[in-house]
This record gives sequence, structure tokens and C-alpha cells, in this order.
Amino acid sequence: MAPSSWSLVFGLTFASVALAATYSVADTYIGQAFLNDFSLQAIADPTHGRVNYVNAATAAKANLTFASSTNFIARADFTTTLSASGPGRNSVRLMSNKQYELGTVLVANLNHMPEGCGTWPAFWTVGANWPNNGEIDIIEGVNNVGNNQGTLHTSPGCTMPSSRSQTGTAFQNDCNTAVNGNAGCGVGFGSNSFGPSFNANGGGWYAMEMTADFVKIWFWARGSSVPSDVSGGSSSVNTSNWGTPVAFFPNTSCSLSSHFGPQNIIINLTFCGDWAGSVYGSDNCPSTCTGEHAYQLSMAEVLKAA
Ligand SMILES: *[C@@H]1O[C@H](CO)[C@@H](O)[C@H](O)[C@H]1NC(C)=O
Ligand SMILES: *[C@@H]1O[C@H](CO)[C@@H](O)[C@H](O)[C@H]1NC(C)=O
Ligand SMILES: *[C@@H]1O[C@H](CO)[C@@H](O)[C@H](O)[C@H]1NC(C)=O
Ligand SMILES: *[C@@H]1O[C@H](CO)[C@@H](O)[C@H](O)[C@H]1NC(C)=O
Repeated sequence: MAPSSWSLVFGLTFASVALAATYSVADTYIGQAFLNDFSLQAIADPTHGRVNYVNAATAAKANLTFASSTNFIARADFTTTLSASGPGRNSVRLMSNKQYELGTVLVANLNHMPEGCGTWPAFWTVGANWPNNGEIDIIEGVNNVGNNQGTLHTSPGCTMPSSRSQTGTAFQNDCNTAVNGNAGCGVGFGSNSFGPSFNANGGGWYAMEMTADFVKIWFWARGSSVPSDVSGGSSSVNTSNWGTPVAFFPNTSCSLSSHFGPQNIIINLTFCGDWAGSVYGSDNCPSTCTGEHAYQLSMAEVLKAA
């Protein structure tokens, strides 16, 4: 796999898939495929960001999306000085045309993610009719923090046990979007998992496995001990060998099959807004909303249950 790439691993929704942790490739996206198989959504930001999501033609013309044979880059405009009273910064929001059911593993290999004061990038999945079919935030953070947050957002009746087998730190255990301003049941990741420190370290790999029994998220920083089926762009993976996840969301007190429908993958980058804006000052950011902002990724593969 190319170094600045990401991949998707997909498993079919067999009843046994939660027990069988082996998946094989079903779909692969590389370079231009991100433009063919994802749609750019020129929509208003529901989280009130200072952003202007543009369509595919505008993004291509402004080089906000760029595909080579091995890489895909998605970014926001970084040359325009904005007026405080005018529209927000041009940026992109990509959604996969395909949906993925429980029984899916997604592996992302990124060289670089957006960074800078005011940035609020996210790499996540969401079902239809939010929040009834769930949301899984795999990569999310704001400003120049160094630690990722992995979070589930659901309809009422989905909580996580306070004690569970994960290396990350739980912030809140109720996933209900109506609780605590839609904070969700988030888990904090370790160093180099987000922002400038992630980029300075050369990026890394994220993986998410979702089944009827659990959702798990792993992160391996570049240069760390990463499973070969993750780093190698393997045609099959065995998640049983990946060790304790950073974030573990078991179905102990949450029926994942009723809170999570088929998921679209979304890659977005907004600025300021409900989260980045509210903690902007406390993250030692200056008075204006600017930032650097490219996702550098290039490959996606989708694998099915073996
Ligand atoms: C961007 O991603 C975050 C992911 O958590 C989401 O909360 C937010 O609504 C997204 N904004 C848009 C416009 O997609
Ligand atoms: C578009 O972006 C790519 C990747 O950053 C860069 O190599 C290329 O030169 C840019 N094209 C233009 C016309 O600026
Ligand atoms: C997956 O890995 C586990 C743990 O190492 C092992 O027990 C199992 O046999 C593996 N499955 C396959 C199909 O190789
Ligand atoms: C958890 O998942 C298992 C296997 O799919 C299922 O048998 C069990 O009923 C689920 N528990 C809850 C609380 O949904």
C-alpha cells in the first residue's frame, strides 16, 4: 500500500461474523476512486461551522480535491483571507456512495490530516435519519490538539459500561445525542493520534470494526508496531490479532443492531463551529479562524467476511 493511503475493510453481515474475525477484500478505492465512489456534498454545516462546502466541479477547479495514481488529497481553501461578516471558508465534505452494514472493518492509512487553529476535521460513518441509525466518529478533534476522540452518537437507550477492555480513556458513557449537548460516548486516544503531532510523526493507521456485538477502534502511529495485514494493504485481515482496541463499545447495554443501520463513510473539514469555536481560546488559538487543512490519503479497500 502506498504510504499516504487509507483502506476500507468490509465484512458481510453473516450471523457468525462477530465470532469470525477474518475479512477479505470486497472493494478498493485508490486515488481517483475517491472522486468516483464518494460524492461531494455542497450542504450547510449542521454544526454551524465557518465553512462553505463546495461541489465536485468547484473543488476540482480550486484543487481542493486532487487525485494521483496513488494518492488522494482533500482540503480547504488556504489562500483566501475571509471577511468576518462573509461566508465561511471553501472546503469539502465527501460521502461514500456505498453503505456498509454491521460486519464491516474499515482501515485508514493517512499521511496527513488537517491541522491548525479553527480546524475541525472528521473521518466518520453515519446512518440515515440521524441519530436513529447511529454515528461512529473514528477520527475527530479540533484546533491543534494531539489526541483523537472516537465516539458513538445514538438515539436514547445506548450506554457503555464504565469498565471495559480498551487502552483509551472514556469521557462519557451515554451515547444518546440528547445528553450533554450531543457529546456522545467518547474515548480519548494517546499521543500522536491527531493534528500537528500526528502529521509530524508521518501519520498512521486507523481501523474500525463494527459488528452486532461491538464497535472497536484502533490506532497505530507511523513507526509503531502495526499488524502486517493493516500496513500491508492485505487482501484479508484477522482483527483477532490486532490487540486491545483504543476504543471499545460493547453491546452490553446497547443493542448495536437496533441503534446502527447501514453506514455511509464521511470525510469532512469544517472551521470553528459548535466544538472548535467554543474551545478556540482555551486551545491557545488567536482571534481569527484560519488553519491548514489537507487530508492526504489514497487507497481504500473493502473486505468481506471470509
Ligand atoms: C463534520 O463531522 C462531524 C463529525 O463528528 C459532525 O459532527 C459534523 O456534523 C460534520 N459536519 C458536516 C457539515 O458534515
Ligand atoms: C494541486 O494539488 C496537488 C497536490 O497538492 C499539487 O501537486 C498540484 O500541483 C496542485 N495543482 C495546481 C494546479 O495547483
Ligand atoms: C485469527 O486469529 C486468531 C488469533 O490469533 C486465531 O486463533 C484464528 O485462527 C485466526 N483466524 C484465521 C481464519 O486465521
Ligand atoms: C449482543 O450481541 C449478541 C450477539 O449478536 C446478541 O446475542 C445479544 O443479544 C446482544 N446484546 C444486546 C444487549 O443487544
